[in-house]
Amino acid sequence: MNAILPPGLPPAAVPLIPDSAPFSAAQRAWLNGFLAGLYGGAAGAGNASAAPPPAEDFPWHDPGLELDERIAMAEGRPLSRRLMACMAQLDCGQCGYLCQTYAEALASGAETSAALCVPGAKATQKALKALLADAPAAAPKPAAAAASVPAGRPVRFVAAHRLTGAGSAKDVRHVVLDLAGSGLSYEPGDSLSVATPNDPALVDAVVAALGGGDDVALREELLHRRDIARPLDRTFDLLAGAAKHAPHAKALRALADGDDGAEPADADLLDLLTAFPSARPPVADLMASLPTLKPRLYSIASSPLACPGRVELCVGVVRADRRGRLRDGVASCHLAFRADAETPLTGHVQTSHFRLPADAATPVIMVGPGTGIAPFRAFLQHREQTAAKGRAWLFFGDQRSATDFLFGEEIAAWQGKGVLSQLSLAWSRDGAKKVYVQHRMTEAAADLWRWLQDGAHFYVCGDALRMAKDVDAALRGIAQSEGGMSADQARDWIVSLARQGRYQRDVY
Ligand SMILES: Cc1cc2nc3c(=O)[nH]c(=O)nc-3n(C[C@H](O)[C@H](O)[C@H](O)COP(=O)(O)OP(=O)(O)OC[C@H]3O[C@@H](n4cnc5c(N)ncnc54)[C@H](O)[C@@H]3O)c2cc1C
Ligand SMILES: NC(=O)c1ccc[n+]([C@@H]2O[C@H](COP(=O)([O-])OP(=O)(O)OC[C@H]3O[C@@H](n4cnc5c(N)ncnc54)[C@H](OP(=O)(O)O)[C@@H]3O)[C@@H](O)[C@H]2O)c1
Repeated sequence: MNAILPPGLPPAAVPLIPDSAPFSAAQRAWLNGFLAGLYGGAAGAGNASAAPPPAEDFPWHDPGLELDERIAMAEGRPLSRRLMACMAQLDCGQCGYLCQTYAEALASGAETSAALCVPGAKATQKALKALLADAPAAAPKPAAAAASVPAGRPVRFVAAHRLTGAGSAKDVRHVVLDLAGSGLSYEPGDSLSVATPNDPALVDAVVAALGGGDDVALREELLHRRDIARPLDRTFDLLAGAAKHAPHAKALRALADGDDGAEPADADLLDLLTAFPSARPPVADLMASLPTLKPRLYSIASSPLACPGRVELCVGVVRADRRGRLRDGVASCHLAFRADAETPLTGHVQTSHFRLPADAATPVIMVGPGTGIAPFRAFLQHREQTAAKGRAWLFFGDQRSATDFLFGEEIAAWQGKGVLSQLSLAWSRDGAKKVYVQHRMTEAAADLWRWLQDGAHFYVCGDALRMAKDVDAALRGIAQSEGGMSADQARDWIVSLARQGRYQRDVY
C-alpha cells in the first residue's frame, strides 16, 4: 500500500506498522498512533501520547523522483537510508519488505540479495550493489522476518468473470471469493493479500529439467514455496559455480554481475535450466537460493454491506510472450484460469487508511483508471447501501469505450440513481489523440476546484509510475489556474490537503 506524495511526506495510504517491523512495542504504538492521526486512520491504532522517537524524514520516499535525485537527497545519511533511496519507493511489498525495511535488512546483512526491488529493476540493483560494495561488510544475520504478510486464512474461489469485451487488448477479471468460515472482515478501501501456487505445468517442466522424476517433495516446494519466475543473483552464482561447461559458467557469471546485455535477460528458472544444461547444483541448494513465493495484494472492489460474506476483486491478467513461451503472472493467472471452488486459497486483509470521509455528506472525487476502479466500486457500493448524501464524482479511463468500461453497467446505474453525481470518462485509444483522466480533470478545472473548496476528498488509485504522477501534476495545475497559486503554493496546498486526509492514494 503506498502513495506518491510530495517530498517529505510518508505515503498517504499508510500501513500500520507490522509486528515484524524493527521497533519496540512502545515505538510501534507511537508510530501507529502518529500515522493514524496524520492520515485520519483507524481508531485505536496506537498510543500517540507516548513519548515520540526522534523524528526522521524520508524526503526521497516519493516514486515520482528520479533515482539520481533520490540518491542525492540521502547523501550523508547512514547506509540503510542511502540504500532505501535506491528503492522504487512504492512500498509494493514484492520484495517481501517495505522500502525502508528492505534497506535496513541489506545494511545489517540480514538480507543478501540486492535484486528484490521489482519496480526499481536493474537500475536499483546496480545502485544498491555499488553502495554495498563500498560499505564495510556487515556480519550476515539470519533473515529478518520480512515486513510482508501475516498468516492468512482459507478463502474459497467462486468465480472470475471477464470484464473486458471481445477484442480488448486486456483481460481483466471480476474475481469473487467466499469468506465464509475464514473470520476475515474488511472495510471499503482495504486490500486483500492472496497466496496462490505457481503454474503446475511450469513446475512440472522445472522438475523434468532437474531430472526430479516423481519427487513429490520437490514438486510441492516448487509449487507452493519458491518464486520460480525471478531468480536472484545468488541463484546465478550457484549455477555458475556448478556449470561444467565454461561458456555456461561465463554467461551465468555475467547474469550474476548484472552485466549489460547478459543473456537470457529476464530469465525465469526454466529458462536458466534450459539454456545451461551443464549447470546442475544440488537441488536443495538450488531451492534455498530461490526467493520465497509471496502473496499478491489486490485492492478490494466490494463493500461488505453490498456483498456480505464475499470479497470481490478487479484483477488484470499479467501474461506476456517471451522467447516463444507465455509468461504468466503467478496470482493473476491462477485467479483467472486455474482457481477452483474445491481448493482453498490463503487470504489476509491488509487494513488501509484509504477511507471514505467520516461525514457522508462530504463530497468525494475518485480518480481510478483501469484496475484502479477497484476501491471506487467498493466506495460506491457502500455509499449506495448507506444512502450517503454527499456528492460523488468518478474519473475513469481505459483504452476503448466498447470493450474496456470495467463495471460500466453498474456505474451507469449508479449515475442514474444519483449515487454518482458526476462521471468523467477518458478513452485513450478511441480517437486519434490519447485522452487520459488528467485531461478530463483539467477540462473540468473550475468545477473540480469548486468541489475542493466545498471540502471534497480527492482519491487516486491505479498505476503509480505514470498515471498517479500525472494526476498529481494536473491537480497542482488546477490549484494554480483556478486558485491563483504559484507553483510553490500549489505544492504546499497539496501537502496540507494530504495532511488533512483529503488527498489519499492507493497506487501500485
Ligand atoms: C496495494 C496494491 C494494490 C493492488 N491492487 C491491484 C488490483 O486491484 N488489481 C490488479 O490487477 N493488481 C493490483 N495490484 C498488483 C498485484 O498485486 C500484482 O502485482 C499483479 O496482479 C501481478 O501479479 P502476478 O502474480 O499475476 O504477476 P507476477 O508473477 O508478480 O509477475 C510476473 C512478471 O510480470 C512482471 N509484471 C507484473 N506486472 C506487470 C505489468 N503490469 N506490466 C508488465 N510486467 C509486469 C513482473 O515484474 C514479473 O516479472 C496491486 C498491488 C498493490 C501493491
Ligand atoms: N506493481 C505491479 O505488480 C503491477 C501489476 C499490474 C499492474 N500494475 C500497474 O497498474 C496499472 C494498472 O493497469 P491497468 O491495465 O488496469 O491500467 P493502465 O495500464 O493504467 O491503463 C488504464 C488507462 O490509463 C491510461 N494511461 C496510460 N498512461 C497514463 C498516464 N500517464 N496518465 C493517465 N492515464 C494513463 C491507459 O492508456 P494507454 O494504455 O492507451 O496509454 C489506459 O487508458 C498498470 O499501468 C501497471 O503499471 C502494476
